[in-house]
Amino acid sequence: MKFLKVLLLFFIIQVQAQQGGMWIPSLLDGINESEMKNLGMKMSVKDIYDVNNSSLKDAVPQFNGGCTSEVISPKGLLLTNHHCGYAQIQSHSTVDHDYLTDGFWAFKMEDELPNKDLSVTFIVKIEDVTQLVLQGTETLSSEAEKQQKIQKNITSLSNSLPKENWQENKIRTFYEGNQYMLFVTETYTDVRLVGAPPSSIGKFGSDTDNWVWPRHTGDFSIFRIYADKNNKPAPYSKDNVPYTPKHFLPVSLDGVAEDDFTLVFGYPGSTNEYLPAVAVEQIVNELNPAKIEIRDKALKVADAYMRQDNAIKIQYASKYASIANYWKKWIGESQGLKKSNAVAIKKSEEKQFIEKVTKAGKEKEYGSLLNDFEKNYIEIAPYALARDYFQEIVLRNTELLKVVYNVYQLDQIYKFRGEQSFNDRKNNLISGLSSLYKNYNNNVDRDVFEQLITLYITKSPRQFLPKSLNNVEVKKLADEIYTNSKFTSYEGFKEILEGDARTVLKNINNDKAFLLVKELTDIYNTQIAPKYEEINLKITALQRDYMKAQLELNKDKRIFPNANSTLRVTYGKVKGYEPKDATIYTPITYLEGVMEKYIPGDYEFDVSPKLIDLFNKKDYGIYGENGKMPVNFIGTNHTTGGNSGSPAIDANGNLIGLNFDRAWEGTMSDIYYSPNICRNIMVDARYILFVIDKYAGAKNLIEELKIVHPKKDKSSKNKKKK
Ligand code: ARG
Ligand code: ASP
Repeated sequence: MKFLKVLLLFFIIQVQAQQGGMWIPSLLDGINESEMKNLGMKMSVKDIYDVNNSSLKDAVPQFNGGCTSEVISPKGLLLTNHHCGYAQIQSHSTVDHDYLTDGFWAFKMEDELPNKDLSVTFIVKIEDVTQLVLQGTETLSSEAEKQQKIQKNITSLSNSLPKENWQENKIRTFYEGNQYMLFVTETYTDVRLVGAPPSSIGKFGSDTDNWVWPRHTGDFSIFRIYADKNNKPAPYSKDNVPYTPKHFLPVSLDGVAEDDFTLVFGYPGSTNEYLPAVAVEQIVNELNPAKIEIRDKALKVADAYMRQDNAIKIQYASKYASIANYWKKWIGESQGLKKSNAVAIKKSEEKQFIEKVTKAGKEKEYGSLLNDFEKNYIEIAPYALARDYFQEIVLRNTELLKVVYNVYQLDQIYKFRGEQSFNDRKNNLISGLSSLYKNYNNNVDRDVFEQLITLYITKSPRQFLPKSLNNVEVKKLADEIYTNSKFTSYEGFKEILEGDARTVLKNINNDKAFLLVKELTDIYNTQIAPKYEEINLKITALQRDYMKAQLELNKDKRIFPNANSTLRVTYGKVKGYEPKDATIYTPITYLEGVMEKYIPGDYEFDVSPKLIDLFNKKDYGIYGENGKMPVNFIGTNHTTGGNSGSPAIDANGNLIGLNFDRAWEGTMSDIYYSPNICRNIMVDARYILFVIDKYAGAKNLIEELKIVHPKKDKSSKNKKKK
C-alpha cells in the first residue's frame, strides 16, 4: 500500500515536472490532459479542440501569417500585439494623425480603418495525412527523388481532399518529415483597425526592454474581422458586416498569482529542439558569435548617428528595432545555452541514445547517425559560416549592397529570361525601392560598410574571399564607392537604370558597388550556396531518421514536434525565476514599475500625462487589485516567434493575458527548453481593459466584451450563503 502511494506520488511528480512542449491541439492525449489538470486546468481537452463543437481553437486565428490573435467579442473583435499591428497603425499615421505616437480609437464602427494586405486565418480542422503523403515513396532510393514525390503528393492532395470552396487545404510536416497533417483553413481579408494605445504604452521600453524581464509594456492593439452577409470571407466592402465567431474568449478580471495554470494557444514559427550536440556547438561557438558581431557593429554605427540627428533617428528607428531584435535574442540564446550546459547534456543524452540503439538491435538503422551528423556538420561548417556572412552583410545590414544585389538579379533576369522580364522587374525595383531610399543616409551606410567589409575580410572563411578584397584598404574603398556609385541616391539609382537592357547593363558594369556585389554574389552562388544545400539536404535526412529513432526508442518520453507555424498548445504556470546568483524575479509587474522607469521626453521610456494622472489618482476602476494596477506577468509556457499575440488562457478558458515576448535568460528555448529559466512574457488582461476603458475611454469596446470575474462571483455567493 505504502509502496503504491510512493509510486503514485512519483508519478504525479513526474507528470507535474513535465513542462515545455508545443502540442498539436487535435492530438492532445490523456497524458497532456492529466499534466494540464495537475497544473490546475479545469477544462477537458475537448474544450480546447473539437471538430464538431465550438472550442477554443475557433477563437484563435493566425494574424497575417506571422503573429497570433484571438476573437474577444460576438462581433469579431480581435486582439493582438501592438508590434504585430505596427505596420497597419503606421500606415494610417500622418503628421496630423500620428497614431503611433498618440494611439487610435474607433468610437463607432464606421470609424474603423480598413487595411490592405491584412488577413487572419482560422483552422477549421486538423487531420493526419501521413500515409497519403508518403504513398509511392517507399521504393525510391535517392533523397532528392523522395522529396520530389512528397511535394507532388502534397500538391495533388491539397487539391483533391474535400473542403468547401471558400476554404483552403494546407499540408505541413511534423517531426522532420515523419508525420504530415492537413489543415483546413478559412482566411478573412477584411480586417479593420479598431484601437491602438500610444507607443508610450504599446511599445514602452522599446529596444532597451525588448526580451527583458521585469517588463512594463502594454503591447496590444485591436482589430475587427468583417465578413459577407453569410459570415463568409470576402474582400473589403463597405457592405461587409462584423464577423460572428464560432467561439470568442471571455475576458477575466481574476488576474493571476504565482503557480496559477496558464495555457498559451497560438502559431509558434520555428524551433530546433532535437539538434545533435555538434549542431548546437556550431551555433554557440561559430554562427551566433559571427552574426552577433556583425549586427553589433552595424547597430553601433546607426546608434551614434541616431543620437546626434533627429532626422536620422526617425529614418532608422524601425530598421534599428528589427536588427536589434534578433541581435539581442542571439546573445541571450548563446549565454543560456552555455549556462545550462546544453551541449554537455545533449552529449550525455546521445550516449544513452547509442545504448538504446544497441539494446534494441537497431545498429544497422540508427547506429551511424551520430557519426554521420558529426561528419556532415564538420563539412558544412565553412559553408554555413560563409553563408551567414554573405546574408548578414550583403543582404541584410548594408543597404547599398542590398540595393545593388537586387540590381544584380536584374542582370541575371535579362540573361535568362530576356528583355520583357527585365523591364518588368526593373519597373518593380524602381517603385519598390523608393521607400528604402526615403530612409537611407549615405554617411551612416558608408560607415556600416567600412565596418562590415572589414569583418568580411578578417573573419569570414578566407577561401571565399573575392580577389578585389585581398589587400584592399577598406577605408579608401568605402570612400570611393560611397562618393562615386550611382546607387547612393534614388536619383542616381533611377538614372543608371534608364534606357534599354543593354545600356543599363553597360552602365551598371562600370559602377564599383555593382562590381563588388557581383563578385561577392557570384562566389556565393557558385561556391557557397550549392555545397551548403547539398550537405544540408543530407543533414535534413539525418535529422528525420534521428527523430524517427527517438520516437521509436523513447516510447516512455513525451516528444513534441518542432514549431512550424501551425496551431499549438503550450501550458505551464505563472512563475518567477532566478536569473543569476542572489537575484530572484517575482512574476508580476505593476504600474509602479512604469513610473520607476519613466524618463520624461525619452523615446523609449516617456509616459503620457494621462497615464501619470490615472496613476496618481489610483483611478484603476474595476481593473486594479489591492490599489495596484498589474501590467505584465511571466510563465513557464514554451513559446517562440509567432506566438506574439497569443492568448494566455486560465483554467476555465477565459482570457487572462496576451503573450508578446520571452525573458532574455531563456531565449535558448528554441533549441533547449528549461523550465528553470525559460519564461514567456504576457500583458495582464486587466491592464488592456484599463487602457481601453480608463485611458482611452472606449466604452463602446468594453461593452462588447464578456467580462467575467469568477473569483468575485464565488466569494459573493459564499457571503450570501453565510
Ligand atoms: N522580442 C519580441 C519578438 O520577438 C518583440 C519584438 C518587437 N519589439 C521591439 N522592440 N523590437 O517579436
Ligand atoms: N516576440 C515574439 C513574436 O513576435 C515572441 C517570442 O519570440 O517570444 O512572436
